[in-house]
Formats: sequence, C-alpha cells, structure tokens
Amino acid sequence: MSGFKLAIDGPAGSGKSTISALIAKKLNWTHIDTGAMYRAVTLKALELKVDLNDESSYRFLETTNIHYDFDRIFIDDRDVTQAIRSEGVTNNVSLVSSFPYVRRKLVDLQKQAANYGNIVMDGRDIGTVVLPDANVKVFLTANVEERAKRRYKENIKKGKDQHISKVIEDIVVRDQKDSTRKESPLRKADDAIIMDTTYLTIDEVVEKIIELTDKKENKHGV
Ligand code: CDP
Ligand code: CDP
Repeated sequence: MSGFKLAIDGPAGSGKSTISALIAKKLNWTHIDTGAMYRAVTLKALELKVDLNDESSYRFLETTNIHYDFDRIFIDDRDVTQAIRSEGVTNNVSLVSSFPYVRRKLVDLQKQAANYGNIVMDGRDIGTVVLPDANVKVFLTANVEERAKRRYKENIKKGKDQHISKVIEDIVVRDQKDSTRKESPLRKADDAIIMDTTYLTIDEVVEKIIELTDKKENKHGV
C-alpha cells in the first residue's frame, strides 16, 4: 500500500543520507539512498572494466539485480555497502549517472520501491523526477566549506588524510557535473523547502524535517 513519501535532495555533503537514515529509524520508515544505487552500478562497471564513456556499456543492467536489506545494499546478491564508498567509485559516479539509460533503469527501480509503506528517499532528482508527488520535499544545502569539512572529518576517521583544499575541489567538481548534466540535473523542486544546514546539528535537522512531516500528516490525514 502506498504511504507517506518524503523526498530529500541536495548537493554532496549536505547531510542527505545521514539525516534520511535517522528519520527512517525514528519513524520506522524505509530509507532508500539512491546515491548508493548509482554507486553500485559504477562499482560493477569498474569491475567489469567496461568503457565508462560509452552508454551501451551499461547494458549489463538488464541482468543485474540491485536490492536493499535495511541499511545494506546488494548487487547480484553481493553486499557492496563498503565497496561503493571507494575513491574509484566516487570519482566516476557522476559520469555513470549522467547517462539517460542508466537513469531510466534506476529511476524505475526507485519508483517501484516507493510503492510500499512509508518511505524517505534521498538523492539529487527525487523531488523533481522520481517522486514528483512526494508529500514533503526538502532541499538540504550547506556552504561548500562546511560540506568539505564534514567530508574531511569522515575521511580522517577512515584513516585517509586528504588536504581540505582537495576535498573542496572534489565536491565542487561533482556538484558542477551533477547540476549541469542534461538528464535530471540536481535541482530544487519548485515545491521543495530549502533547509540550510551550515549551522545546524544533525539532530536539529532531523527534528525540523519530522515537524514538517507531522504538520503535513495532520493536515491531510495521510
Ligand atoms: O557522496 P554523496 O553522499 O554526496 O553522494 P551520493 O548521494 O552517494 O551520490 C553519488 C552520486 O550519484 C552523485 O554525485 C550523483 O552523481 C549520483 N546521483 C544521481 O545522479 N542521482 C541521484 N538521485 C543520486 C545520486
Ligand atoms: O548524503 P550527503 O552527501 O548529503 O551527506 P552525508 O554523507 O549524510 O553527510 C556528510 C557528513 O556530514 C556526515 O559525516 C554527517 O555526519 C555530517 N553532517 C554534519 O556534521 N552535520 C549535519 N547537519 C549534517 C551532516
């Protein structure tokens, strides 16, 4: 049965996946991290050593199975939750996700996944393309220095000491590619609420979004 749909979009490091996962946990909803799906496709393409610049290389998607099990993502029944965070995947995912064929395949899967129960889905085109009928749409932002600082701290925790200027550069390049591609670029939906998280803690953002969903539920009795 179709339930409440919460769409969260925004640029890299704005907090989408962290915030969406926490909201899903608090409300006992399903969380779908669509970025993880594009990353899983990129990982498989790299492993198959196909030509990443050729759209027809991605035909392997016809026989590829991608699915979630709670917060783990599987491709062809292999748990790739860790593997999709590699530098190789991060550096190529914007190229892979720019192909209309790849997007069509994943958007279909995402739309299907949204048909059951209450969901929070995060990505770049959720409010505009995947769930244009979402009950609440949020567009998370934060200035680029803050987003880079967040990534930098994550990297340090993982034992990767990359200079902050390189982290900023990587984020700017990926945002630029994601915002300027022809097929469903990163864009705020007209009816999305912008939330600047530069000076907000994770808990504050979670609370604000839950308040928005509560208001909507009370108004429409969803
Ligand atoms: O690193 P970060 O968490 O910001 O990115 P992600 O959410 O894991 O997404 C990785 C990449 O997948 C993005 O940079 C986009 O190129 C692509 N993506 C997309 O095109 N559309 C989506 N709905 C989600 C991600
Ligand atoms: O998915 P996206 O790339 O938008 O961001 P994320 O991976 O959820 O968050 C990037 C990092 O920023 C994580 O380490 C979060 O814990 C942190 N974060 C934060 O410090 N303050 C916020 N308001 C949101 C996220």
